[in-house]
Amino acid sequence: MTQDPTGTVALAFSGGLDTTVCVPLLKEEYGYDDVVGVTVDVGQPKKEFDEAAETAEALGIDHYVVDARAEFADLCLQSVKANGTYQGYPLGTALARPVIANAILEVAQEQGCTALAHGCTGKGNDQLRFEAVWRTSELDVIAPVRELGLTRKWENEYAAEKGLPVEGGDGGRWSVDTNLWSRSVEGSELEDPAHVPGEEIYDWTRPPGNAETETVEVTFEEGEAVAVDGEEVDAVDLIAELNERAGAHGVGRSDIMEDRMLGLKVRENYEHPAATVLLNAHEALEGLVLTQEERAFKQQVDQQWAQKGYQGLVDAPLTTALEAFIEQTQTKVTGTVTVKLDGGQARPVGRESDYAVYSESAASFNEAAVTDDIEQNDATGVAKYHGFQSRLANRVAASVAAREAAAATDGGETESAETDDAEE
Ligand code: ARG
Repeated sequence: MTQDPTGTVALAFSGGLDTTVCVPLLKEEYGYDDVVGVTVDVGQPKKEFDEAAETAEALGIDHYVVDARAEFADLCLQSVKANGTYQGYPLGTALARPVIANAILEVAQEQGCTALAHGCTGKGNDQLRFEAVWRTSELDVIAPVRELGLTRKWENEYAAEKGLPVEGGDGGRWSVDTNLWSRSVEGSELEDPAHVPGEEIYDWTRPPGNAETETVEVTFEEGEAVAVDGEEVDAVDLIAELNERAGAHGVGRSDIMEDRMLGLKVRENYEHPAATVLLNAHEALEGLVLTQEERAFKQQVDQQWAQKGYQGLVDAPLTTALEAFIEQTQTKVTGTVTVKLDGGQARPVGRESDYAVYSESAASFNEAAVTDDIEQNDATGVAKYHGFQSRLANRVAASVAAREAAAATDGGETESAETDDAEE
């Protein structure tokens, strides 16, 4: 708990149970005079804002809504340059948190708040992501649910006792986090990793196989998706359109055991149709335009970048350095990829680029020459050399083994002779 807290605290506010109980607690337990709720729009369903606004009004607190969709959508498209996934998850929640944290910090500073608060528990990733941003400021940081060790059961009882406006008690069967890039569903029976979820957990995706196969063309400029089927469209609309279209084919469902930052494993279900289309298309285009060694090295860079993205450490010096490499590679990732949407899959089925590191005649079965100055039979020397060192190493190892075996046989005979002698 902070020393002698006074003034106003800005609370990351969703209107759910956790953040609702935080409001009276910040006054009663922490001693703040006022709480302002801040809800940041990163593409949640509209009803979440209505609920947040109604709850804020019922609680009698000031409520701000910040539209950060464009900024967030840009960040999502940046993550595609890094083929950004963590254990198969395209980082929707992870990438949204720093954007939300910054937006809340700005409101807090404008409103002259002395502290920032969130309703995260002490078990998850979001507390770490929020605080990584907030602790760059001078403001106090408060996490009532974590610091007071609250449980959902306690929160429900407290809410009932205080007559707090919490509709439906625990806010629904599952814990859901939705933004433009992904929808995550966790909790309840999904906590059993063996439980096979039914269709009812999905909202963005239809059961695979229920729509007529279609193709979609995605155009990239320097690694950034800029057009769908030849139509230029801004980042927010591009993502929304692909979510809709690919979602109809059941694209982008994942069910993973996720290793959280604190070491806990959590069973997570996600829907991310647009992310899957864009990630698959982008990787296909990189396959056309990057050299073999750029691709191999970039995989390592991408993995490190995704790790920082998952941690919410988007400003870490390592992140900045990795991005410098990624940006350099993306100067060639310009072109168009055709993706087939079908049966839960988004499969790249065609790609083109002016930067293609590809020569049809060089690779063709129908032409003898590779290029003007390289003939097929120039490969004979290469073929002779190929594996030379391995052959040498294996030969050396085999001859050492044979020598040792011979020595053991000789030595063995001598030894048994001696033993015989000794016995005699
Ligand atoms: N595990 C994911 C992450 O840490 C998302 C969690 C989303 N929260 C939820 N209540 N479904 O990025």
